[in-house]
Amino acid sequence: MQFDLFNQNVNSILDAHSYDEFKKRLLESNCGECALSKTRTHIVVDRGNPNAAVMAIGEAPGENEDIQGKAFVGRAGMLMDELMAEVGIDTNRHLLIANIVKCRPPENRAPHAEEAKTCIPYLKKQIQLIKPKVILLLGATALKHMIREKTNISMESEAGKWISFPEYPDIKFMVLYHPAFLLYDPRKKQVMREHLKELRSFINQHLMQAGRNG
Ligand code: URA
Repeated sequence: MQFDLFNQNVNSILDAHSYDEFKKRLLESNCGECALSKTRTHIVVDRGNPNAAVMAIGEAPGENEDIQGKAFVGRAGMLMDELMAEVGIDTNRHLLIANIVKCRPPENRAPHAEEAKTCIPYLKKQIQLIKPKVILLLGATALKHMIREKTNISMESEAGKWISFPEYPDIKFMVLYHPAFLLYDPRKKQVMREHLKELRSFINQHLMQAGRNG
């Protein structure tokens, strides 16, 4: 875990030994590390089950998430819930859902590189504490910021792929379309359904026996 030697606030959050403690410290910190803090209503840490074996990472909170303080509770989140439910995944029970940044960017723009870089140590701490077996990267923003060497991303060719990543040798990463993209292009829902079936069969094969199915 990368510590900023001079920032006691951030260090104390990143030093938490349990997920509950991490979340409590982050929420209570009223984090002001980047400009997004000036316009947000709530810091959005997550939604779901911190004991789940599968984590999903989106882009950033939108308007509904900012109001409610929970990830993926707007239209995109509802569509994700619906598609996951079709393959027997309950997003509140079988997933822990987080985002690249924890505060809503104005006008729902994509987070800037500096904002993502500032916020990602929190996401990495979540990964360290949750110890997921699988991470779902929802859309190009999640892919780009988690896997740095990826540039010029075409979701058309990346979606549905499994990736391994030297920083996390024990975690399988699966790239998926962002559900907001499916709202924009509903024809892609069928492709997403195929990717989710593949995810489901991976869970059945590798996580059920290990007893980490949430
Ligand atoms: N889109 C995201 O990427 N994250 C959310 O939490 C909501 C919408």
